[in-house]
Amino acid sequence: MQPKSVIVTGAGAGLGKGIAERLAADGFDVAVTDIDAQAAEGVAEDLRARGLGARAYALDVSDPEQVDSVVERVIASQPQLYGLVNNAGIGRATAFLDISKKDWDRITAVNTTGPFLMSQAVIKELIKHHEGSIVNLSSIAGKDGFPHWVHYGVTKHAVIGLTRGLAREFGGEGIRVNAICPGAVKTAIWGAEAQGTDDPDALFASLASRTALGRGQSVEDIAAATSFLIGNEAINITGISLSVDSGLLFS
Ligand SMILES: NC(=O)c1ccc[n+]([C@@H]2O[C@H](COP(=O)([O-])OP(=O)(O)OC[C@H]3O[C@@H](n4cnc5c(N)ncnc54)[C@H](O)[C@@H]3O)[C@@H](O)[C@H]2O)c1
Repeated sequence: MQPKSVIVTGAGAGLGKGIAERLAADGFDVAVTDIDAQAAEGVAEDLRARGLGARAYALDVSDPEQVDSVVERVIASQPQLYGLVNNAGIGRATAFLDISKKDWDRITAVNTTGPFLMSQAVIKELIKHHEGSIVNLSSIAGKDGFPHWVHYGVTKHAVIGLTRGLAREFGGEGIRVNAICPGAVKTAIWGAEAQGTDDPDALFASLASRTALGRGQSVEDIAAATSFLIGNEAINITGISLSVDSGLLFS
């Protein structure tokens, strides 16, 4: 079978990097995109050194011109575009009364407008082949409320709305759209600065202790779920928001 391409946003670090590595190992030709061009190039170089298919692109998902230009370049230079992982996201704990309009606009631009722009640009191409699969990174904050994460939670609820609407609108075109809701994975978002505490490990441990399985998740756990939903084994799954949270939320 000819390899097909998948675009992963925010793939220079954290979950996106792990997802890009997993999809490349699955046999996809991966477009490794990130606002941090050097980080994206590092991940793509490493994959190519292992004999896997990958190209790097600098991309801020909130910028419509960059989105259109990168998607066009992927279509022109890589095998048939089949998939998109809307992974790029930002978040920082902030008391609701302290959230500035500027912070609100930026988090919305990256976490919600980014997946909207990327999905629109990519779906135009997927329709031509009558097949495709999109996975959107939402969060447990897309299904429940968490103090100091209201702005972030609103964007992640919106990602589930986007997932459901697109799954209905494009199912007839052979395009599946699903979301993944991670609980807690130790990436930059779990650093002291983003969590607004001197002891983010204690916060992480307290969240993990509230789960049915009593643990957090790894980058590989999220990459495995993404691999499943992107690939053919999930051929009859669309519109779902899969919690990968060790049983924090039963939803
Ligand atoms: N880590 C967790 O516990 C967790 C839990 C739930 C959901 N998530 C979601 O998973 C996704 C990945 O999170 P992570 O923990 O790997 O974060 P991270 O901060 O480790 O990595 C995010 C990556 O996105 C890139 N990025 C930031 N802004 C961008 C933009 N405008 N355009 C393109 N790239 C941009 C960064 O350069 C970075 O490489 C996010 O959507 C996040 O909300 C993470």
